[in-house]
Amino acid sequence: MGTLQVFKLILILGCFGSIAEGLGVNWGIIASHPLPPKTVVQLLKDNGIKKVKLFDADSSSISALAGTNIEVMVAIPNSMLSMMTDYDTAKKWVDRNVTRYNFDGGVNVKFVAVGNEPFLSSYNGSFLNVTLPALENIQKALNEAGVGSSVKATVPLNADVYTGDLPSAGRFRTDIADLMTQIVTFLNQSGSPFVVNIYPFLSLYDNANFPFDYAFFDGGSNTVNDNGIVYTNVFDANFDTLVSALKAVNLGSMEIIVGEVGWPTDGDINAKAAYAQRFYNGLMKKLASNTGTPLRPNQYIEMYLFGLIDEDSKSVQPGNFERHWGILKYDGQPKFNMDLTGQGRDVTLVPAKSMQYQSKTWCILDPKAQNLTAIGNNINYACTFADCTSLGYGSTCNGLDSSGNASYAFNAYFQDQSQVDGSCDFQGLATETAQDPSTAGCNFTIQILLDSFGYRVLVPVKAVLFHVLVSVFLEMLW
Ligand SMILES: *[C@@H]1O[C@H](CO)[C@@H](O)[C@H](O)[C@H]1NC(C)=O
Ligand SMILES: *[C@@H]1O[C@H](CO)[C@@H](O)[C@H](O)[C@H]1NC(C)=O
Ligand SMILES: *[C@@H]1O[C@H](CO)[C@@H](O)[C@H](O)[C@H]1NC(C)=O
Ligand SMILES: *[C@@H]1O[C@H](CO)[C@@H](O)[C@H](O)[C@H]1NC(C)=O
Ligand SMILES: *[C@@H]1O[C@H](CO)[C@@H](O)[C@H](O)[C@H]1NC(C)=O
Ligand SMILES: *[C@@H]1O[C@H](CO)[C@@H](O)[C@H](O)[C@H]1NC(C)=O
Ligand SMILES: *[C@@H]1O[C@H](CO)[C@@H](O)[C@H](O)[C@H]1NC(C)=O
Repeated sequence: MGTLQVFKLILILGCFGSIAEGLGVNWGIIASHPLPPKTVVQLLKDNGIKKVKLFDADSSSISALAGTNIEVMVAIPNSMLSMMTDYDTAKKWVDRNVTRYNFDGGVNVKFVAVGNEPFLSSYNGSFLNVTLPALENIQKALNEAGVGSSVKATVPLNADVYTGDLPSAGRFRTDIADLMTQIVTFLNQSGSPFVVNIYPFLSLYDNANFPFDYAFFDGGSNTVNDNGIVYTNVFDANFDTLVSALKAVNLGSMEIIVGEVGWPTDGDINAKAAYAQRFYNGLMKKLASNTGTPLRPNQYIEMYLFGLIDEDSKSVQPGNFERHWGILKYDGQPKFNMDLTGQGRDVTLVPAKSMQYQSKTWCILDPKAQNLTAIGNNINYACTFADCTSLGYGSTCNGLDSSGNASYAFNAYFQDQSQVDGSCDFQGLATETAQDPSTAGCNFTIQILLDSFGYRVLVPVKAVLFHVLVSVFLEMLW
């Protein structure tokens, strides 16, 4: 091959470079208008994403993944953990939610997540007694069903199960140290990975003095020196704190998967699309180059981004940002440029196609309304049901005036209710309009239709891509 051909080959690999082997996404569905499962699965395929993590075993989500060969982590919610301490119940769960899909052209289930962050301090120990028995029963049921060598049960844990001022000092949290040792010993015996959720954003959110750049991967000036090992970002430091905690119980080489990692785009002063873009840019490059971490250098890390799509009905107890974790908006449209191949190109994700929206009608505070006494109560009512998190301090719609606030709340409720009759009234204070009240940074959204999907224009799109590929390869031949 001549230099020109080599150059062209590089160009081609660059243009069609595939995403890192270890990359997956979390698919949550706590939304007023969840995207149809088929649309989500198409999004995964179009973006080359080959691993997905669910938060339950919802049959419509799982069924939509059939025949795709996408690797799936299904889950048992915390609320079902105590039931799973009964072996027969665990066996039924596995039969119904794993084995059923295990056929040629079925679903490629790789993991069962037993609970989700069950040892969070905020749960007051509610799941301490049930998690390990549930884990053991599920793995036993998988083994008995004959799928135990390919499907592994594990427990996605929050990074708060371990502590350490420096990565080398990592140890499991003292109040659960014995339990954690039993769990990791069991995981090791069954050949299952440790799954941990790591959130540099939360390091920043929880600590006003946290060095901002250290949350990203291009910080440079903020470093932590751990007995000669220099950490340049909190992700590596956190990951290695876990490595040390595992080492302390003689499991220093146990496989670690990052179950959740990401950056929200609204609902807090540090939750911005620009920061998310910066974070993911560094993360994707790291993942693609298999740099690993100082204690596990040159290693491939499997990780699941949190999350794929915004979820407007999530609890905001942890913070208003909870509803804005998506790399895509509620309607499957990209929020910022992101190159999943880790080459740092200025490219967009492939959006959900042929989305169908409710009519272009917004609900606003009636400019003719005279008596505004009841406005506060009506805003509160709207925001109790609908998502108003973009109005808060540091958020995209925080600059609105008081009537803008009312309009935003009324519209959020009206769209949440799918524009049904009577949902834009608010004791006569509201009125419908066909004029978009959105401002520069603040989007008054129109919700998507809940039903009647299914129309897509995939054939022409695929045909175009095929055409491009063919012409590129024909060109290579000269
Ligand atoms: C299968 O999973 C679904 C969704 O999490 C759950 O509602 C159902 O009870 C499970 N089936 C069995 C038999 O446990
Ligand atoms: C945990 O305890 C706190 C304080 O007693 C209480 O407010 C909270 O509701 C409890 N949470 C759960 C999940 O039980
Ligand atoms: C867990 O079990 C211990 C010992 O059996 C018991 O004392 C404790 O109350 C249990 N905790 C919960 C939250 O059920
Ligand atoms: C981890 O699992 C391997 C394989 O089953 C076993 O040989 C080893 O002793 C286990 N290590 C610990 C610390 O339990
Ligand atoms: C304004 O509305 C409130 C209740 O919404 C009512 O109590 C009050 O009398 C009204 N004021 C006037 C001047 O109409
Ligand atoms: C609008 O609502 C937000 C969130 O409740 C509040 O912080 C802000 O002060 C309000 N603005 C005005 C002008 O009332
Ligand atoms: C608001 O969001 C919708 C849905 O993603 C998008 O189509 C529209 O362009 C946005 N409007 C503004 C003003 O940003």
